[in-house]
Amino acid sequence: MAKRSIEGCRGILTGASSGIGRALAVELVRRGARLVLVARRAERLDDLANSLADATGKVEVLAGDVTTSEVRRAAIERAATAFGGLDLLVNNAGGGAMGGFAEASAERLRRVMELNFFAPAELIRVALPLLKAGRKPLVVNVGSILGHRGIPLCAEYCASKFALQGLSESLRAEFAPLGIDLLVVSPATTQTEFFEQAIDAAETPWSRIRGVTPAVVARQTVTAIRRGRHEIVISPSGKLMVWMNRLMPRVMDSILARHA
Ligand SMILES: NC(=O)c1ccc[n+]([C@@H]2O[C@H](COP(=O)([O-])OP(=O)(O)OC[C@H]3O[C@@H](n4cnc5c(N)ncnc54)[C@H](OP(=O)(O)O)[C@@H]3O)[C@@H](O)[C@H]2O)c1
Repeated sequence: MAKRSIEGCRGILTGASSGIGRALAVELVRRGARLVLVARRAERLDDLANSLADATGKVEVLAGDVTTSEVRRAAIERAATAFGGLDLLVNNAGGGAMGGFAEASAERLRRVMELNFFAPAELIRVALPLLKAGRKPLVVNVGSILGHRGIPLCAEYCASKFALQGLSESLRAEFAPLGIDLLVVSPATTQTEFFEQAIDAAETPWSRIRGVTPAVVARQTVTAIRRGRHEIVISPSGKLMVWMNRLMPRVMDSILARHA
């Protein structure tokens, strides 16, 4: 039984120009959502908007960098002016950095945290007044299985997703009295531009894992939104990793140390 309807839902979706975000836009708009689509590559967003022109829902395009406060505020203003409010905020924009921590710069850590942690955190903050007035309001944070278990050669990324996971658990409790729900989606490896677009794209054992399609992540996310779930881990391998780590953290430590 659905707890939340996508039909007529007014949302903001970051990172809509490729991968999981693009697939989520297709799935949500097909079911009647109205979305502000945010990413830096304007032409990609325009192509997506054109391809969705005949879908049930409607889209607004906002090209910009979510790590800037101006773009975050512009996204909120666009939802207010175009749709008259906000029911759904999907923090999906994100990116990784591959390679050893010891060889990396302090700047790499800051860039990863800006994109994967500070940007979603601050977008939630500016969205709050509209969300409070929304219909069955929900924040969806796209985390990662690497927000449940750290692995070598992706330390900054894992740290950023752990931070997002912690923030999400705190805010879920804080926002409950306001009637705002919070879902964390934790994908495992997904076939997107993630590895090509990484801040540092060093070859790692993880870059060669094929993973699921973004459409699988999008479908499971939309089902979780409709059913009022709080946490989902995508794919059997992702679930196995999270559970193995909970039950046998020392075994995971020694398996992962072999890949360092
Ligand atoms: N693929 C995986 O294996 C995997 C696994 C677990 C979790 N995830 C998470 O899934 C989410 C989506 O990633 P993906 O796999 O779909 O990768 P992707 O294909 O590279 O998509 C990343 C999206 O984020 C946008 N983006 C990046 N930096 C941005 C910025 N500064 N401002 C605005 N938008 C920005 C990109 O658009 P522009 O470049 O046009 O700005 C793009 O639309 C991320 O949070 C990622 O951490 C991915």
